[in-house]
Amino acid sequence: MGNKGNVGSVIFFWALLVAVVAMATEHRPIERTKGINGLDKIIVRDHRGRSFEVYLYGGQVTSWKNEKGEELLVMSSKAIFNPPTPIRGGIPILFPQYSNTGPLPSHGFARQRFWEVEANPPPLPSKTSSHAFVDLILRSSDDDLKIWPHKFEYRLRVELGHDGDLTLTSRVKNSDTKPFNFTFALHPYFAVSNISEIQVEGLHKLDYLDQQKNRTRFTDHEKVITFNAQLDRLYLSTPDNIRIVDHKKKKTIVVHKEGQVDSIVWNPWDKKVSDLGVDDFKRFVTVESAAVEKPITVNPGQEWKGILQMYVIPSSCASGKHDPKKSCIHHP
Ligand SMILES: *[C@@H]1O[C@H](CO)[C@@H](O)[C@H](O)[C@H]1NC(C)=O
Ligand SMILES: *[C@@H]1O[C@H](CO)[C@@H](O)[C@H](O)[C@H]1NC(C)=O
Ligand SMILES: *[C@@H]1O[C@H](CO)[C@@H](O)[C@H](O)[C@H]1NC(C)=O
Repeated sequence: MGNKGNVGSVIFFWALLVAVVAMATEHRPIERTKGINGLDKIIVRDHRGRSFEVYLYGGQVTSWKNEKGEELLVMSSKAIFNPPTPIRGGIPILFPQYSNTGPLPSHGFARQRFWEVEANPPPLPSKTSSHAFVDLILRSSDDDLKIWPHKFEYRLRVELGHDGDLTLTSRVKNSDTKPFNFTFALHPYFAVSNISEIQVEGLHKLDYLDQQKNRTRFTDHEKVITFNAQLDRLYLSTPDNIRIVDHKKKKTIVVHKEGQVDSIVWNPWDKKVSDLGVDDFKRFVTVESAAVEKPITVNPGQEWKGILQMYVIPSSCASGKHDPKKSCIHHP
Protein backbone atom coordinates (compact mmCIF):
# COMPACT_ATOMS: atom_id res chain seq x y z
CA MET A 1 0.00 0.00 0.00
CA GLY A 2 2.86 2.32 0.95
CA ASN A 3 4.42 1.50 -2.39
CA LYS A 4 1.25 2.34 -4.32
CA GLY A 5 0.98 5.59 -2.38
CA ASN A 6 4.55 6.46 -3.36
CA VAL A 7 3.93 5.71 -7.02
CA GLY A 8 0.72 7.76 -6.81
CA SER A 9 2.46 10.76 -5.33
CA VAL A 10 5.34 10.56 -7.80
CA ILE A 11 2.85 10.53 -10.66
CA PHE A 12 0.94 13.35 -9.02
CA PHE A 13 4.01 15.54 -8.66
CA TRP A 14 5.13 14.84 -12.19
CA ALA A 15 1.66 15.77 -13.44
CA LEU A 16 1.78 18.93 -11.34
CA LEU A 17 5.23 19.82 -12.65
CA VAL A 18 4.17 19.22 -16.25
CA ALA A 19 1.05 21.34 -15.73
CA VAL A 20 3.03 24.20 -14.15
CA VAL A 21 5.65 24.14 -16.92
CA ALA A 22 2.90 23.97 -19.56
CA MET A 23 1.13 26.94 -18.01
CA ALA A 24 4.34 28.94 -17.80
CA THR A 25 5.28 28.29 -21.42
CA GLU A 26 1.82 28.66 -22.98
CA HIS A 27 1.00 32.17 -21.70
CA ARG A 28 -2.62 31.27 -21.78
CA PRO A 29 -4.38 34.57 -22.28
CA ILE A 30 -7.11 34.13 -19.70
CA GLU A 31 -8.26 36.85 -17.38
CA ARG A 32 -10.74 36.40 -14.56
CA THR A 33 -12.47 39.61 -13.64
CA LYS A 34 -15.70 41.12 -12.37
CA GLY A 35 -18.45 41.85 -14.85
CA ILE A 36 -21.75 43.67 -14.39
CA ASN A 37 -23.02 43.67 -10.79
CA GLY A 38 -19.79 42.06 -9.64
CA LEU A 39 -20.55 38.74 -11.37
CA ASP A 40 -17.42 36.77 -12.23
CA LYS A 41 -16.47 36.65 -15.85
CA ILE A 42 -13.63 35.17 -17.85
CA ILE A 43 -12.07 37.01 -20.78
CA VAL A 44 -10.03 35.00 -23.28
CA ARG A 45 -7.96 36.66 -26.00
CA ASP A 46 -5.83 35.20 -28.76
CA HIS A 47 -2.61 36.63 -30.19
CA ARG A 48 -4.53 38.28 -33.07
CA GLY A 49 -6.71 40.32 -30.75
CA ARG A 50 -9.82 38.17 -31.08
CA SER A 51 -11.65 37.54 -27.84
CA PHE A 52 -14.62 36.14 -26.03
CA GLU A 53 -16.14 36.62 -22.60
CA VAL A 54 -18.07 34.15 -20.52
CA TYR A 55 -19.95 34.72 -17.27
CA LEU A 56 -19.70 31.97 -14.68
CA TYR A 57 -23.36 32.72 -13.97
CA GLY A 58 -25.07 30.58 -16.61
CA GLY A 59 -21.75 29.53 -18.17
CA GLN A 60 -22.93 32.11 -20.66
CA VAL A 61 -20.83 33.59 -23.44
CA THR A 62 -21.66 37.31 -23.56
CA SER A 63 -19.16 38.56 -26.14
CA TRP A 64 -17.25 37.28 -29.17
CA LYS A 65 -15.09 39.76 -31.07
CA ASN A 66 -13.09 39.40 -34.25
CA GLU A 67 -9.59 40.82 -34.79
CA LYS A 68 -11.08 44.23 -35.68
CA GLY A 69 -12.83 44.34 -32.33
CA GLU A 70 -16.25 43.93 -33.99
CA GLU A 71 -18.83 42.29 -31.74
CA LEU A 72 -20.35 39.21 -33.40
CA LEU A 73 -22.99 38.45 -30.76
CA VAL A 74 -25.76 40.62 -29.38
CA MET A 75 -26.65 41.33 -25.78
CA SER A 76 -30.08 42.71 -25.05
CA SER A 77 -29.94 46.44 -24.28
CA LYS A 78 -32.11 45.57 -21.26
CA ALA A 79 -30.26 42.41 -20.18
CA ILE A 80 -30.57 41.77 -16.45
CA PHE A 81 -27.44 40.58 -14.65
CA ASN A 82 -29.18 39.64 -11.46
CA PRO A 83 -29.44 35.96 -10.49
CA PRO A 84 -31.71 34.04 -10.66
CA THR A 85 -32.92 36.01 -13.71
CA PRO A 86 -31.36 34.50 -16.83
CA ILE A 87 -29.16 36.82 -18.89
CA ARG A 88 -30.70 37.81 -22.25
CA GLY A 89 -28.21 37.67 -25.11
CA GLY A 90 -24.88 36.08 -26.02
CA ILE A 91 -25.14 32.29 -25.92
CA PRO A 92 -27.49 30.96 -23.21
CA ILE A 93 -27.32 27.25 -22.39
CA LEU A 94 -30.75 25.64 -22.25
CA PHE A 95 -30.31 22.45 -20.23
CA PRO A 96 -31.58 19.90 -19.18
CA GLN A 97 -34.82 20.90 -20.86
CA TYR A 98 -35.55 22.97 -23.94
CA SER A 99 -38.57 25.24 -23.51
CA ASN A 100 -41.56 23.57 -21.82
CA THR A 101 -40.98 20.12 -23.35
CA GLY A 102 -40.76 18.45 -19.91
CA PRO A 103 -41.48 18.81 -16.21
CA LEU A 104 -38.99 21.61 -15.46
CA PRO A 105 -39.50 25.36 -15.74
CA SER A 106 -39.00 26.56 -19.33
CA HIS A 107 -35.44 26.11 -20.63
CA GLY A 108 -34.19 24.16 -17.58
CA PHE A 109 -31.84 25.62 -15.00
CA ALA A 110 -28.23 25.59 -16.30
CA ARG A 111 -28.45 29.25 -17.38
CA GLN A 112 -29.36 30.15 -13.78
CA ARG A 113 -26.54 28.34 -12.05
CA PHE A 114 -23.02 29.38 -11.10
CA TRP A 115 -20.55 27.37 -13.12
CA GLU A 116 -16.91 26.88 -12.12
CA VAL A 117 -13.67 27.04 -14.01
CA GLU A 118 -12.20 23.54 -14.27
CA ALA A 119 -8.42 23.54 -14.33
CA ASN A 120 -7.83 19.99 -15.52
CA PRO A 121 -10.86 18.45 -17.20
CA PRO A 122 -10.63 15.00 -18.74
CA PRO A 123 -8.73 15.48 -22.00
CA LEU A 124 -10.63 16.69 -25.02
CA PRO A 125 -9.09 16.03 -28.39
CA SER A 126 -8.72 19.47 -29.91
CA LYS A 127 -8.76 19.91 -33.69
CA THR A 128 -6.49 22.91 -33.40
CA SER A 129 -3.71 23.60 -30.94
CA SER A 130 -5.37 26.83 -29.90
CA HIS A 131 -4.55 27.93 -26.40
CA ALA A 132 -7.38 30.45 -26.29
CA PHE A 133 -9.94 28.47 -24.38
CA VAL A 134 -11.51 28.00 -20.99
CA ASP A 135 -13.10 24.95 -19.40
CA LEU A 136 -16.16 25.32 -17.20
CA ILE A 137 -18.13 22.76 -15.23
CA LEU A 138 -21.59 22.56 -13.72
CA ARG A 139 -22.35 19.74 -11.29
CA SER A 140 -25.86 18.95 -10.13
CA SER A 141 -26.42 20.39 -6.66
CA ASP A 142 -28.70 18.97 -3.96
CA ASP A 143 -31.30 21.58 -4.91
CA ASP A 144 -31.05 20.58 -8.58
CA LEU A 145 -31.59 16.94 -7.64
CA LYS A 146 -34.89 17.91 -5.98
CA ILE A 147 -36.30 19.21 -9.28
CA TRP A 148 -34.37 16.93 -11.68
CA PRO A 149 -33.29 13.74 -9.86
CA HIS A 150 -30.31 12.87 -12.04
CA LYS A 151 -26.70 13.40 -11.01
CA PHE A 152 -24.71 14.96 -13.84
CA GLU A 153 -21.57 16.85 -14.71
CA TYR A 154 -21.79 19.29 -17.61
CA ARG A 155 -18.40 20.28 -18.97
CA LEU A 156 -18.20 23.20 -21.36
CA ARG A 157 -15.13 24.22 -23.31
CA VAL A 158 -15.30 27.60 -25.05
CA GLU A 159 -12.49 28.01 -27.56
CA LEU A 160 -11.28 30.49 -30.15
CA GLY A 161 -9.90 28.56 -33.11
CA HIS A 162 -7.04 29.59 -35.37
CA ASP A 163 -9.47 30.76 -38.04
CA GLY A 164 -11.32 33.00 -35.61
CA ASP A 165 -14.11 30.49 -35.10
CA LEU A 166 -15.75 30.18 -31.72
CA THR A 167 -16.41 26.61 -30.62
CA LEU A 168 -18.47 25.42 -27.69
CA THR A 169 -17.95 21.78 -26.79
CA SER A 170 -20.51 20.38 -24.36
CA ARG A 171 -19.97 17.15 -22.48
CA VAL A 172 -22.73 15.82 -20.28
CA LYS A 173 -21.77 12.95 -18.02
CA ASN A 174 -24.26 10.77 -16.21
CA SER A 175 -22.77 10.28 -12.73
CA ASP A 176 -25.92 8.56 -11.51
CA THR A 177 -26.96 4.90 -11.32
CA LYS A 178 -29.80 5.03 -13.85
CA PRO A 179 -30.10 6.44 -17.37
CA PHE A 180 -31.46 9.94 -17.92
CA ASN A 181 -32.87 11.89 -20.85
CA PHE A 182 -32.52 15.57 -21.55
CA THR A 183 -33.42 18.10 -24.19
CA PHE A 184 -31.08 20.90 -24.94
CA ALA A 185 -30.22 23.97 -26.99
CA LEU A 186 -27.43 26.50 -27.32
CA HIS A 187 -29.08 29.79 -28.17
CA PRO A 188 -26.66 32.23 -29.85
CA TYR A 189 -27.87 35.76 -30.57
CA PHE A 190 -25.93 36.53 -33.77
CA ALA A 191 -25.32 40.17 -34.69
CA VAL A 192 -26.70 41.13 -38.11
CA SER A 193 -26.77 44.50 -39.85
CA ASN A 194 -30.55 44.53 -40.41
CA ILE A 195 -32.94 41.64 -39.71
CA SER A 196 -35.09 42.72 -42.69
CA GLU A 197 -32.22 42.15 -45.08
CA ILE A 198 -30.71 38.84 -44.04
CA GLN A 199 -31.38 35.27 -45.13
CA VAL A 200 -31.00 31.99 -43.33
CA GLU A 201 -29.99 29.18 -45.70
CA GLY A 202 -29.81 25.41 -45.40
CA LEU A 203 -33.29 24.47 -44.17
CA HIS A 204 -35.15 24.20 -47.50
CA LYS A 205 -37.61 21.27 -47.70
CA LEU A 206 -37.18 20.36 -44.06
CA ASP A 207 -39.95 19.85 -41.55
CA TYR A 208 -40.35 22.25 -38.67
CA LEU A 209 -42.60 22.65 -35.67
CA ASP A 210 -44.05 26.13 -35.56
CA GLN A 211 -43.62 27.25 -31.97
CA GLN A 212 -46.09 30.09 -32.49
CA LYS A 213 -48.73 27.54 -33.51
CA ASN A 214 -48.53 25.05 -30.67
CA ARG A 215 -45.73 23.16 -32.42
CA THR A 216 -47.80 22.26 -35.46
CA ARG A 217 -45.69 20.45 -38.04
CA PHE A 218 -45.02 22.11 -41.45
CA THR A 219 -42.62 21.62 -44.33
CA ASP A 220 -40.52 24.62 -45.36
CA HIS A 221 -40.95 25.22 -49.11
CA GLU A 222 -38.98 28.46 -49.22
CA LYS A 223 -35.41 28.34 -50.53
CA VAL A 224 -34.26 30.71 -47.79
CA ILE A 225 -35.79 32.16 -44.64
CA THR A 226 -36.36 35.90 -44.62
CA PHE A 227 -37.81 37.94 -41.77
CA ASN A 228 -40.72 40.37 -41.73
CA ALA A 229 -42.60 39.22 -38.62
CA GLN A 230 -42.08 37.09 -35.54
CA LEU A 231 -40.65 33.69 -36.39
CA ASP A 232 -40.03 30.78 -34.01
CA ARG A 233 -39.42 27.44 -35.66
CA LEU A 234 -37.96 24.19 -34.46
CA TYR A 235 -36.47 22.54 -37.57
CA LEU A 236 -36.07 18.77 -37.36
CA SER A 237 -33.11 16.66 -38.49
CA THR A 238 -31.21 19.60 -39.93
CA PRO A 239 -27.88 19.58 -41.80
CA ASP A 240 -24.70 20.25 -39.85
CA ASN A 241 -24.13 23.66 -41.47
CA ILE A 242 -26.66 26.49 -41.57
CA ARG A 243 -25.73 29.90 -42.99
CA ILE A 244 -26.85 33.38 -42.07
CA VAL A 245 -26.21 35.60 -45.09
CA ASP A 246 -25.82 39.29 -44.30
CA HIS A 247 -25.78 40.97 -47.73
CA LYS A 248 -25.14 44.44 -46.40
CA LYS A 249 -22.00 43.36 -44.61
CA LYS A 250 -21.13 40.90 -47.42
CA LYS A 251 -20.55 38.28 -44.79
CA THR A 252 -21.95 34.89 -43.92
CA ILE A 253 -22.10 33.40 -40.46
CA VAL A 254 -21.77 29.62 -40.60
CA VAL A 255 -23.37 27.72 -37.74
CA HIS A 256 -21.95 24.22 -37.56
CA LYS A 257 -23.18 21.58 -35.15
CA GLU A 258 -22.30 18.03 -34.19
CA GLY A 259 -24.21 15.65 -31.93
CA GLN A 260 -27.47 17.59 -32.05
CA VAL A 261 -30.02 16.92 -34.76
CA ASP A 262 -32.38 19.91 -34.53
CA SER A 263 -32.09 23.66 -35.11
CA ILE A 264 -34.21 26.56 -33.93
CA VAL A 265 -34.55 29.81 -35.81
CA TRP A 266 -36.00 32.72 -33.84
CA ASN A 267 -36.61 36.40 -34.04
CA PRO A 268 -39.26 37.93 -31.77
CA TRP A 269 -39.94 40.97 -34.02
CA ASP A 270 -42.39 43.22 -32.18
CA LYS A 271 -43.46 40.61 -29.63
CA LYS A 272 -42.98 42.12 -26.21
CA VAL A 273 -40.11 40.52 -24.33
CA SER A 274 -39.64 42.28 -20.99
CA ASP A 275 -35.83 42.20 -20.91
CA LEU A 276 -35.32 43.04 -24.59
CA GLY A 277 -35.10 46.62 -25.87
CA VAL A 278 -37.86 47.54 -28.36
CA ASP A 279 -35.42 47.90 -31.27
CA ASP A 280 -33.09 45.05 -30.33
CA PHE A 281 -34.82 42.54 -32.61
CA LYS A 282 -33.56 44.43 -35.67
CA ARG A 283 -29.95 43.56 -35.02
CA PHE A 284 -29.96 39.85 -34.19
CA VAL A 285 -31.15 36.44 -35.28
CA THR A 286 -30.82 33.25 -33.30
CA VAL A 287 -29.90 30.00 -35.03
CA GLU A 288 -29.67 27.40 -32.30
CA SER A 289 -28.24 23.90 -32.25
CA ALA A 290 -30.63 21.68 -30.37
CA ALA A 291 -31.83 18.22 -29.44
CA VAL A 292 -35.53 18.52 -28.79
CA GLU A 293 -37.73 16.16 -30.79
CA LYS A 294 -35.76 13.12 -29.66
CA PRO A 295 -34.25 13.61 -26.21
CA ILE A 296 -30.66 12.58 -25.65
CA THR A 297 -30.28 9.52 -23.43
CA VAL A 298 -27.15 9.10 -21.33
CA ASN A 299 -26.46 5.85 -19.52
CA PRO A 300 -24.76 5.71 -16.11
CA GLY A 301 -21.06 6.50 -16.36
CA GLN A 302 -21.43 7.53 -20.00
CA GLU A 303 -20.90 10.94 -21.52
CA TRP A 304 -22.65 12.73 -24.37
CA LYS A 305 -20.74 15.24 -26.46
CA GLY A 306 -22.06 18.01 -28.69
CA ILE A 307 -20.33 20.77 -30.62
CA LEU A 308 -21.46 24.19 -31.78
CA GLN A 309 -18.95 25.98 -33.98
CA MET A 310 -19.51 29.43 -35.44
CA TYR A 311 -17.44 31.30 -37.97
CA VAL A 312 -17.78 34.25 -40.28
CA ILE A 313 -16.69 34.22 -43.92
CA PRO A 314 -17.09 36.64 -46.84
CA SER A 315 -20.43 35.90 -48.55
CA SER A 316 -18.63 35.25 -51.84
CA CYS A 317 -17.10 32.21 -50.21
CA ALA A 318 -20.38 30.79 -48.95
CA SER A 319 -22.06 29.94 -52.25
CA GLY A 320 -21.82 26.61 -54.01
CA LYS A 321 -21.56 23.12 -52.69
CA HIS A 322 -17.93 23.07 -51.66
CA ASP A 323 -17.03 23.16 -48.01
CA PRO A 324 -16.79 26.94 -47.60
CA LYS A 325 -14.52 26.71 -44.63
CA LYS A 326 -11.88 24.57 -46.26
CA SER A 327 -11.77 26.35 -49.61
CA CYS A 328 -12.10 29.91 -48.50
CA ILE A 329 -11.34 30.77 -44.95
CA HIS A 330 -7.59 30.61 -45.29
CA HIS A 331 -7.62 32.61 -48.54
CA PRO A 332 -10.54 35.04 -48.27
C1 LIG B 1 -35.81 8.28 -22.47
O1 LIG B 1 -35.91 8.25 -23.87
C2 LIG B 1 -36.08 6.94 -24.38
C3 LIG B 1 -35.95 6.99 -25.90
O2 LIG B 1 -36.39 8.21 -26.43
C4 LIG B 1 -37.43 6.40 -23.89
O3 LIG B 1 -37.62 5.10 -24.38
C5 LIG B 1 -37.43 6.41 -22.39
O4 LIG B 1 -38.71 6.04 -21.92
C6 LIG B 1 -37.09 7.77 -21.83
N1 LIG B 1 -36.91 7.68 -20.40
C7 LIG B 1 -37.49 8.52 -19.56
C8 LIG B 1 -37.17 8.30 -18.11
O5 LIG B 1 -38.20 9.45 -19.92
C1 LIG C 1 -33.63 47.65 -42.74
O1 LIG C 1 -34.10 47.14 -43.96
C2 LIG C 1 -35.43 47.56 -44.29
C3 LIG C 1 -35.83 46.81 -45.54
O2 LIG C 1 -34.87 46.94 -46.56
C4 LIG C 1 -35.44 49.08 -44.44
O3 LIG C 1 -36.75 49.52 -44.73
C5 LIG C 1 -34.96 49.72 -43.16
O4 LIG C 1 -34.86 51.11 -43.31
C6 LIG C 1 -33.59 49.16 -42.77
N1 LIG C 1 -33.22 49.67 -41.47
C7 LIG C 1 -32.06 50.26 -41.24
C8 LIG C 1 -31.83 50.74 -39.84
O5 LIG C 1 -31.22 50.40 -42.11
C1 LIG D 1 -51.40 21.92 -28.40
O1 LIG D 1 -50.96 20.61 -28.71
C2 LIG D 1 -51.10 19.69 -27.65
C3 LIG D 1 -50.42 18.39 -28.02
O2 LIG D 1 -50.24 18.24 -29.38
C4 LIG D 1 -52.60 19.51 -27.36
O3 LIG D 1 -52.79 18.60 -26.31
C5 LIG D 1 -53.20 20.87 -26.99
O4 LIG D 1 -54.59 20.76 -26.82
C6 LIG D 1 -52.90 21.91 -28.07
N1 LIG D 1 -53.31 23.21 -27.60
C7 LIG D 1 -53.96 24.08 -28.38
C8 LIG D 1 -54.28 25.41 -27.76
O5 LIG D 1 -54.27 23.83 -29.53
